[in-house]
Amino acid sequence: MDRLKIIGGNKLNGEIAISGAKNSALKLMAACLLTGEPLTLTNMPNLADTRFLSQLLATLGVEVYWPKGDNECRLNAAELTSTIAPYEQVRKMRASFNVLGPMLARYGHATVSLPGGCAIGARPVDLHLKALEAMGADLLVEGGYVKAAAIHGLKGARISFPFVTVGATEHAMLAATLAKGTTVLENAAREPEMVDLADCLNKMGAKISGAGTDTITIEGVAQLNGATHAVMADRIEAGTYAMAAAAAGGDVTLTGAPVAALGAMISALKESGVTVDSNEAAATLRIQRNGSALKAVSVTTQPHPGFPTDLQAQFMALMSVADGTSIIRENIFENRFMHAPELSRLGADIQVRGKEAVVQGVPKLKGAPVMATDLRASVSLVIAGLAAEGETEVNRIYHLDRGFERLEDKLTGCGADIRRLNDSEE
Ligand code: UD1
Repeated sequence: MDRLKIIGGNKLNGEIAISGAKNSALKLMAACLLTGEPLTLTNMPNLADTRFLSQLLATLGVEVYWPKGDNECRLNAAELTSTIAPYEQVRKMRASFNVLGPMLARYGHATVSLPGGCAIGARPVDLHLKALEAMGADLLVEGGYVKAAAIHGLKGARISFPFVTVGATEHAMLAATLAKGTTVLENAAREPEMVDLADCLNKMGAKISGAGTDTITIEGVAQLNGATHAVMADRIEAGTYAMAAAAAGGDVTLTGAPVAALGAMISALKESGVTVDSNEAAATLRIQRNGSALKAVSVTTQPHPGFPTDLQAQFMALMSVADGTSIIRENIFENRFMHAPELSRLGADIQVRGKEAVVQGVPKLKGAPVMATDLRASVSLVIAGLAAEGETEVNRIYHLDRGFERLEDKLTGCGADIRRLNDSEE
């Protein structure tokens, strides 16, 4: 199993190019199932998760053309050979569940295993299923699988989500494109990825309006066509490197950054005393901290445009070395503080009390061996390792490879001392 060895203390200086967004790419890939024509996605991030979904799509009969290392991927679902997504594949990544709605909408039937995914709470899919049922699907949950049928096709419906869910909003949006009549999604997620998905689907011939607001309207169409779409830039990757630069100190410019999508993160960084220069037109975000102390800032995770839960662990790493006490409240997932005890191994002072973590900043972290527990938690350990004195070894980094493209290259390019080791290396 690979691990990362980090010698902390180097300041970060230089440029980091932001990759395409994992979370957006996964839903855009599922959109290929809605049409018999090719969908070409550019700015695709080469990640374990996106590669993994391409394998699942291939199992279903999608022709996948995506050379190794390439950022362009062509998906052609002209003829599916199966509408069954097996447990062995879906359990490894929760977002694979989103193949259900598109297959159901196009073929009138689909069987998809219930998902697994990150260990950050129960993460049920009840609201995905309720949305599909509201559109007329007959569902049977049996033996760990959802068997769905809509013999006469899906129909438009008014769906009001009891709370904001990214995955169910996207799933309903995908399925509703081919439903008969109009679907209205109320209390919809407003994450930038909704806009990216709606843009792509509209290029494919869908009629979606309101994406990015809490009410999304989808007028169903009889069929969709192929399209070419560039995956939006990854706001979580951008936020992660911004915090790495803030924690280690230095002067880093993020290029191709989705500046408008990062408002809450930028405000929190500025409040903590970091210099942030953003240029939306040029898609750049410059982060500078040279010698100045960090101030403790409290944040609460919220659906967009609030502070994203996917940046909570990274912000906790940063606050570990701030002056004062920061309270970090996690409102989206119930079990998302697994990084706290690992950060404590580096000398951080963190007390978890239910939904809140109380972080008492310390002047210095000290390197130690730590273990990655989920995707965003693992990168928080990298950030802490970069800021710590001495050597940090991050184990189980397969979590990192799920969501960060060429992480070591991007960081070493800015002067970090970080190396990937496998079992045989010391
Ligand atoms: C997506 C993101 C993830 C991010 C999260 C919140 C992807 C691949 N993942 O996850 O990185 O952290 O949004 O921004 O895009 N819930 C239910 N029933 C459901 C669906 C969700 O109870 O049917 C709950 C979840 O357990 C969670 C909350 O709703 O507590 C929000 O989850 P959701 O927004 O759906 O997250 P994901 O789509 O899984």
